[in-house]
Amino acid sequence: MIDYDGCFSSAARTMQASAIRKMGGLGGRVPDLISFAPGFPAPELFAWEEFRDVAQSVLSGSDPSVLQYGSTRGYRPLVEALAQILSERGIAATPEEILVTTGSQQALDLTARVFIDPGSVVLVELPTYTGGITAFNNAQATLVGVGQDSDGIDLEDLDRVTVRERAAGRRIAFLYVVPNFQNPTGVLMSLEKRQRLLEWAARRSVLIIEDDPYGALYFDDVAAAADTRPIKADDRDGRVVYLSSFSKTVAPGFRVAWVAAPAAITAKLEVAKQAADLCTGGLDQRIVYEVWKRGVLTARLPKLRSHYQEQRTVMTRALRRELGNLVSWPEPKGGFFLWAAFPERVNTDALLTRALARAVVYVAGSAFYVDGRSSNLARLAFSAPSAARIEEGVRRLAAAVREELDVSTSSVLAAPGAPGRPASP
Ligand SMILES: Cc1ncc(COP(=O)(O)O)c(C=O)c1O
Repeated sequence: MIDYDGCFSSAARTMQASAIRKMGGLGGRVPDLISFAPGFPAPELFAWEEFRDVAQSVLSGSDPSVLQYGSTRGYRPLVEALAQILSERGIAATPEEILVTTGSQQALDLTARVFIDPGSVVLVELPTYTGGITAFNNAQATLVGVGQDSDGIDLEDLDRVTVRERAAGRRIAFLYVVPNFQNPTGVLMSLEKRQRLLEWAARRSVLIIEDDPYGALYFDDVAAAADTRPIKADDRDGRVVYLSSFSKTVAPGFRVAWVAAPAAITAKLEVAKQAADLCTGGLDQRIVYEVWKRGVLTARLPKLRSHYQEQRTVMTRALRRELGNLVSWPEPKGGFFLWAAFPERVNTDALLTRALARAVVYVAGSAFYVDGRSSNLARLAFSAPSAARIEEGVRRLAAAVREELDVSTSSVLAAPGAPGRPASP
């Protein structure tokens, strides 16, 4: 028997699997499981008919380049369309500053490859997106967390951490942020904070990776398009690398996303992408491009927004009804996620066993923290299950929380003075 451990590089030996992907694997094993774990779009919102029409015309055989290798940069008409999409978001980017990627996840991986040396510091929000954590960890970065307020990253903590890390002689590769409806908290960074963050980055000479897959999915009862203005839109000195994706607005199965960055950075990312996959699938790019060109995407956005807004309302009402003030959350103003805080003595890692026994699953808060903490927090994705499944899933989850509280209350009562679990900031 070969000991394959010895075959792996030291980087491979320390690679971590995505906690969310692990949860996704449970689906087949637990009958009738209701999953609030993955941030999947609602499948009934996919534009099946339009995709079919577009695919048929793209695959007519009249253009042999459709199934040929394509340029690493991306399908040129799509790159030009992206320049227009970006300009509608306030970002002026030329085709030389744009790179199509195979999902934003690839953009995170390429970013890691071109900016991180082993041991470089990557500054991340506490909590932050697990896909960012895995990509940066795989490049052997040291991830350092920065606190968040209700309107986004805590700028004082950010400065404190930056000064501390540099004083210790560590190189800061970049700061990674998700300003629009953050994954996992749903928090929307205020416009004022975005401005101050840019000023801070210029003062401290730090690159910002801005990841924005959810910006178009604001809920118009509490937010407007203007509230989601990308940081990149006001980046005058080329300090921001902007990532976005068609995964949440068209469909993640196409794996089409993009980066907009200063030309010198885009060129370097392109070289890294050559080694990763030569090019993003040409068929996927053409379908997404045609879907955009025919106006399907623009016409559907209001429907997507109102659908997810309604899903959010169903989840928040169900949580309030089932758990009263045993649960709280920052109001999601868009996106797919609700960041639930249960009473401090509920540890959401431990609660998972009870939740699974009741056929409901979520992602425990610990998956999103780079400081290893366990907590009373959980990410509940309201995007994919139907309204009826959300209601039923919340009922199951509430029963699990109650059961956990009964047990922990009796154990606390049995051991007077026993400390509760640490609160999360
Ligand atoms: C913040 C964030 N970044 C990147 C991604 C990856 O998206 P893609 O499907 O474009 O790879 C996701 C997906 O959930 C996400 O939430």
